[in-house]
Amino acid sequence: LDRPRVLSGIQPTAGSFHLGNYLGAVRQWVALQESHDAFYMVVDLHAITVPQDPAELRRNTRIAAAQLLAAGLDPERCTLFVQSHVPEHAQLGWVMNCLTGFGEASRMTQFKDKAAKQGADRASVGLFTYPILQVADILLYQAHQVPVGEDQRQHIELTRDLAERFNGRYGDTFTIPAPYILKETAKIYDLQDPSIKMSKSASTPKGLINLLDEPKATAKKVKSAVTDTDTVIRYDTENKPGVSNLLTIHSSLTGTSIPELEREYEGKMYGALKTDLAEVMVEFVTPFRDRTQEYLDDPETLDSILAKGAEKARAVAAETLATTYDRLGL
Ligand code: ADP
Ligand code: NA
Repeated sequence: LDRPRVLSGIQPTAGSFHLGNYLGAVRQWVALQESHDAFYMVVDLHAITVPQDPAELRRNTRIAAAQLLAAGLDPERCTLFVQSHVPEHAQLGWVMNCLTGFGEASRMTQFKDKAAKQGADRASVGLFTYPILQVADILLYQAHQVPVGEDQRQHIELTRDLAERFNGRYGDTFTIPAPYILKETAKIYDLQDPSIKMSKSASTPKGLINLLDEPKATAKKVKSAVTDTDTVIRYDTENKPGVSNLLTIHSSLTGTSIPELEREYEGKMYGALKTDLAEVMVEFVTPFRDRTQEYLDDPETLDSILAKGAEKARAVAAETLATTYDRLGL
């Protein structure tokens, strides 16, 4: 088994994944499990960097895992687990905290963004050091590649720096990972304001497609998507961001190329595109929602999948941690 190892995680905080999470990340995870030795986790330890209601966090962690399975992650083909089930994350996290300079941690731009949202004085030290926990997440599994969005590139750089620092001081211990920025990943924009990314925090409810919403409500959102005052259906992100976003979503979900879609909709009105896309979306979310619900309705199966995943993950993580402790004199 010489397949490169990948590691990625998703936060459980939102409950439902939105269409951007699916097309921008989760779908690629599903594809990568075929070609890579893939480790995927629901990062509940990262979720508590901001206050969480315990019952809600527990529920959302299960919903996230159920959605990953519904999306096509196969526990026979990848290792799917919940971060807090593998205590080595917190343990190696501490080691990495001690290896990181305060100034170095202070330069992480994602913290600045997230702390600003919290109000600078309210942000926890955990939020400040979350990139360092991410470093531990990656290094524990000796991952070669980390599939992430562009916004996470700085954290992969930090991971490489810390791995090299540790290896230099204490002897070869960690694989140096590379970012795996997915070029073909669709960037999905808000349906009401196509100048901003679809996002849990920034989108208005009407601009955000939550995959677990009522399919009918989703169809309605698609039909009322903001376009422009022109009538031509053409992919042009500069001048027609709304229409281009709809074409991207259509193409991503159906596999029909954008030029093909442009030909198909030549001479047709925006309404035709929206009506068809609403149907495509309903056809996608309906079974996705049903499969997610099936996993949630069968807690024993879900628990058993996550327990086996944690066991597989732990076997790797424990070995890395043992070597690390040994090198440090612990
Ligand atoms: P949000 O931005 O809604 O808070 P997250 O930061 O939790 O979402 O993102 C989880 C994953 O989904 C990341 O890999 C991110 O790159 C991807 N993602 C989020 N929003 C979009 C989007 N609008 N288009 C494409 N990918 C996205
Ligand atoms: Na984000």
